[in-house]
Amino acid sequence: MCGIVGILGSKPVAMDLVDALRRLEYRGYDSAGIATVENGHLERRRAEGKLRNLEHRLLEQPLSGLAGIGHTRWATHGRPTERNAHPHMTPRVSVVHNGIIENYRDLKAELSAAGHTFESDTDTEAVVHLITHELDKGQQPIAAVQSALSRLQGAFALGIIFAGHDDLMIAARQGSPLAIGHGTGEMYMGSDAIALAPFTDTITYLDEGDWAVLRRTGVDVFDRTGQSVTRPQVKSVASALLVDKGNHRHFMAKEIHEQPDVISHTLANYLDMGAGTVNFPDLGIDLAKVERVTISACGTAFYAGLVGKYWIERYARVPVEIDIASEFRYREAPLQPGGLALFISQSGETADTLATLRYCKAGGQHIASIVNVRTSTIARESDAVLPTLAGPEIGVASTKAFTCQLAALACLSIAIGRARGTIDAAKERELVTALTEIPRLISTMLRDESQFEALAHTLSKARDVLYLGRGINYPLALEGALKLKEISYIHAEGYAAGELKHGPIALIDENVPVIVMAPEDDLFDKSISNLQEVAARGGQIILISNADPEKAGCKLAAHIKVPDAHDFANPLLYAVPAQLIAYHTAVIMGTDVDQPRNLAKSVTVE
Ligand code: F6R
Repeated sequence: MCGIVGILGSKPVAMDLVDALRRLEYRGYDSAGIATVENGHLERRRAEGKLRNLEHRLLEQPLSGLAGIGHTRWATHGRPTERNAHPHMTPRVSVVHNGIIENYRDLKAELSAAGHTFESDTDTEAVVHLITHELDKGQQPIAAVQSALSRLQGAFALGIIFAGHDDLMIAARQGSPLAIGHGTGEMYMGSDAIALAPFTDTITYLDEGDWAVLRRTGVDVFDRTGQSVTRPQVKSVASALLVDKGNHRHFMAKEIHEQPDVISHTLANYLDMGAGTVNFPDLGIDLAKVERVTISACGTAFYAGLVGKYWIERYARVPVEIDIASEFRYREAPLQPGGLALFISQSGETADTLATLRYCKAGGQHIASIVNVRTSTIARESDAVLPTLAGPEIGVASTKAFTCQLAALACLSIAIGRARGTIDAAKERELVTALTEIPRLISTMLRDESQFEALAHTLSKARDVLYLGRGINYPLALEGALKLKEISYIHAEGYAAGELKHGPIALIDENVPVIVMAPEDDLFDKSISNLQEVAARGGQIILISNADPEKAGCKLAAHIKVPDAHDFANPLLYAVPAQLIAYHTAVIMGTDVDQPRNLAKSVTVE
């Protein structure tokens, strides 16, 4: 989603703003812009499309100024044109905004009636005119912003600079994250610490409702009531090297290859591998008494949760309710007070997941979250946090965060099972050992990607692709299809293998590749029966399995060989071929692998 940055610098800031925006590219965007203030005068440059277009614009029409704000825009209100790109401004004030101002229509009508002329289709412009209106009434910038903030409904992270004030920037957050960076004689703000990493590693995260007045000498933070508050300075781990792809062509490839390491780190956080036991943090709730788990998440994180449901129900014998966060939130599900509600999110900022968390909290649930960004809002609003140690995930398509979410969920299911006595010590050792082997097995698979490259050539010619899986492999089929469609733009759907004959089988012909995820587990024979139903209708079958391909009993278009592993740990292993298939297909298709069209990394709007 949109990224914002701001610099109160000691040298011209335009190129540093672009550099910081480049570090926010991973969030997804379709236009960009910067504005600076110099000798009291505001000016801006904006461009449709990628940051290189903005850079060209800046080469043709340089922008000086020691203070400025920048923005990468992921369109919500109004097309991704230059006219709608941020910063938005009047001669008095310039604003960058991440989020959605829900009452912008009312504000626009009111301000238009008062004589303000709007030039874009965005919700953000209402903020610009609201502040200008207050300034026109004679308010000073800080008071004008404070009045304006009290009128805004919705979600926002704002960066604001003013004509006539070269040493002033105001930042505000409600619903969208915002970090303040401390420099020496310079100050910064940005959507996350990664954007600020080249300038500083000393960060203050604003709390919900906070707003901050930055000057080169420091920052004053206020809460939503206007009370001065102190928020801690922390050292960010977002090093300046984070945008480095290493030897890889894309961040996605790098992140796929990091999985053996980051899964190990995540497992080590929850397991004593030597002893073969779980070593689970105290969730602040007695796991032996948990009667129901409610899981909520979006997209790939939701599919991780779906795998978690299979694990928790099978091994811990606790019923799990799971729903997509955007649905859960509005269906008014009854909640039994004292239940465990689990939220899964890489970014920890996904608007729907956060809203559902708050709904569950209000419903008396004990809140636990599996998050990758420990400083995120979801982490901070949870009673207990189960971190994934995936490190920053830059590729928009989630890979290593997904498998680390699976690792945390697998450990959680053993922990609940042990607490409830559904898993004895011997079984615990068996399951822990199974997980411990996964990083090595993934490394083996990553050694040679030629089978995936070959398959990608076939898939790149397809218009539609189906993924099938049974039992715990069903969520992996959903994830495989999501990964393929989001980065290759080939239409793909995942189905429960047994559901095929209830409708989707009508789609099968010789042009439709059908990828079957079928480890040789207790459901293997049933998956093979479904595979043969496809073969009988001429579908091109691609089998992903550790089994001998002869066992398919029919001609296969391809067989992706997966190493043997314990059934329990298979989901972590089978996630990887799905990632590699999507990745290599997208490379052949020539799409923007790390920043696929229309997608955003951190979805901070509903
Ligand atoms: C797909 C993908 C998305 C995210 C979803 C939730 O590859 O990355 O489906 O999983 O937007 O995001 P988080 O995990 O940040 O809540």
